[in-house]
Amino acid sequence: MGTVLVTGASGIAGREVSRVLAAAGHHVRRADIAPSADPADSAIGEFVRCDTRTPTDVLDAVAGCDAVVHLAAWHNAHQPGVSDATIFAVNVDGTFNVVQACRAAGIRSVVFASSMAYGWGSVYSVTKVLGEDLWKMYREVTGASVALLRYHGFVPEQYLRWGERLLRNGVDVRDIATATAAATEAALAGRIDLFSTIVHSDHALPKEVQDDFTTHGAAWAESRLPGATALIERHQLALPDRVEQHDLSAAADLLGWRPQHDFIEFLEDLQRREAAGEDVNDLWAPGRIPAS
Ligand SMILES: NC(=O)c1ccc[n+]([C@@H]2O[C@H](COP(=O)([O-])OP(=O)(O)OC[C@H]3O[C@@H](n4cnc5c(N)ncnc54)[C@H](O)[C@@H]3O)[C@@H](O)[C@H]2O)c1
Repeated sequence: MGTVLVTGASGIAGREVSRVLAAAGHHVRRADIAPSADPADSAIGEFVRCDTRTPTDVLDAVAGCDAVVHLAAWHNAHQPGVSDATIFAVNVDGTFNVVQACRAAGIRSVVFASSMAYGWGSVYSVTKVLGEDLWKMYREVTGASVALLRYHGFVPEQYLRWGERLLRNGVDVRDIATATAAATEAALAGRIDLFSTIVHSDHALPKEVQDDFTTHGAAWAESRLPGATALIERHQLALPDRVEQHDLSAAADLLGWRPQHDFIEFLEDLQRREAAGEDVNDLWAPGRIPAS
């Protein structure tokens, strides 16, 4: 067990990651420009106010830590939107400052939040390319264990839209958190050198269902959950033509991590809510009623 710095700890992923790491027995230092809106989060671990654009803030936050989980970033989902200039400053300059602070503190274990948006399609996408490159440099120069996690999307949305999204590159934030915590453990144990994986849902789809979900999706869902077809029709869930699935075996082998939350679980949750007479139209996801 060690002290783990989580940057962006007040955000969607940061809160869940911090919770999972603390539950595993780590001392979690939560760093963000502002504390989480939920006062209960203070029980998770100490909070340090840290703007990653300010090098001395980051040096102070990293000092004394055994591992750094760098999540702090702006992305394109915020409303109103964050400017490209701010996205670049926080995601690139901020990451550079975290890299430099890690060098100064001799950090041997790092996890970086990258994205499936990684690429050249937007300023945000490029910040993830540069972010990954900075951490590759860190690995090269220091020999530290570095995990680069390319998350699929987990921004909360209306419950039914969220369910549909699980088949369209959506991933439950709980899977984000367990993957990130598993990568942190692997880095702390020195089980990885430079490790990169996509983090997404796994619906255990046979290949023909994955490739032609329009034709086979409803029958596949029915075989996994009796009543699924009627549920999909009643709620007019829009199914995708095909479902993107990636090989997650390296994450399973090296991190011991597998995603646990999928579309069928969502349908089961929806079925329970229906049985309980709940109106799901105003519901925001993720949100669940306890299994009966
Ligand atoms: N949400 C997604 O769907 C998604 C998908 C792929 C990758 N990611 C990546 O995952 C990470 C976490 O995303 P999220 O959805 O939890 O984001 P979020 O916006 O919910 O949280 C980000 C946190 O970073 C903090 N922050 C912003 N600027 C900062 C600064 N200068 N210094 C310190 N903290 C700062 C914010 O206050 C916020 O609490 C990000 O790196 C993001 O790019 C997110």
